[in-house]
Amino acid sequence: MIPHVGFAMMRPTLLREHHVGQRVKAAVFPVAGRGTRFLPATKASPKEMLPIVDKPLIQYAVEEAIAAGATKLVFVTGASKRAIEDHFDTDAELERALTESGKHDLLASIRNIVPPGVACVYIRQGEPLGLGHAVLCARPAVGNEPFFVHLADDLIAGDPGCLAQMADEYADHGGSIIAVETVPPENTSSYGIVAVDESDGGRITKIVEKPKPEDAPSNSAVVGRYLLAPEIFDKLENTGRGAGGEIQLTDGIADLLNDSPVYAYSFNGVRYD
Ligand code: G1P
Repeated sequence: MIPHVGFAMMRPTLLREHHVGQRVKAAVFPVAGRGTRFLPATKASPKEMLPIVDKPLIQYAVEEAIAAGATKLVFVTGASKRAIEDHFDTDAELERALTESGKHDLLASIRNIVPPGVACVYIRQGEPLGLGHAVLCARPAVGNEPFFVHLADDLIAGDPGCLAQMADEYADHGGSIIAVETVPPENTSSYGIVAVDESDGGRITKIVEKPKPEDAPSNSAVVGRYLLAPEIFDKLENTGRGAGGEIQLTDGIADLLNDSPVYAYSFNGVRYD
């Protein structure tokens, strides 16, 4: 009896020790999409560069990832996306001009976008084969570690940010974590939709890409924030084309569910799509 109790008490501690202090270092930003929904605004400039108040959309994404502890920012880009690289690069000439004219606030605003110790990596997605394919393109930069995926189209205002909340969840129980939000039942065909076992810590039991309302397992929708175990990469290698003829991240995750825990996370904050 006593050894049994001892084991039961030890096990959670061991699990925790394995994850405590384990940081998620890489964040993947799939930004290759052409943004045709936003034409003509996106004819010559990426949709991720559209300004919201005083910053481009992608800067909110990067700031959220850095606040969650990410130190490697992996952009999966495509044709006509060079403005994103320029935005996160140093502009020595502009910095000199602002210094000489004494515009210190503006100088600080462009200097600290990517703080020291944070690296940007750019990988081209040669063909627009879908979100799952874009994430797979990031594999050489991410390696065998857990990582965030952030879809910049989903702007989430939260304090702490959504990815930081997910990193906290991860420190508690590990696994993979997907942010979800309840949507009107008639909107399920715009999202990945999950079924969740609340009695098993919110573990996802099923995930389907853009089901019709009558086929949807719930109205709990995936929003654009994922914390994924590296095992997803092997799944995506074998994921065929799914909804819309694309290699879907959702289908890779559906495969992952079979052998590793994936949890749904209802974030605190407000999403603007
Ligand atoms: C993607 C995903 C979908 C998810 C959505 C969130 O779809 O495939 O599962 O619910 O992002 O924004 P997209 O909106 O890129 O078609």
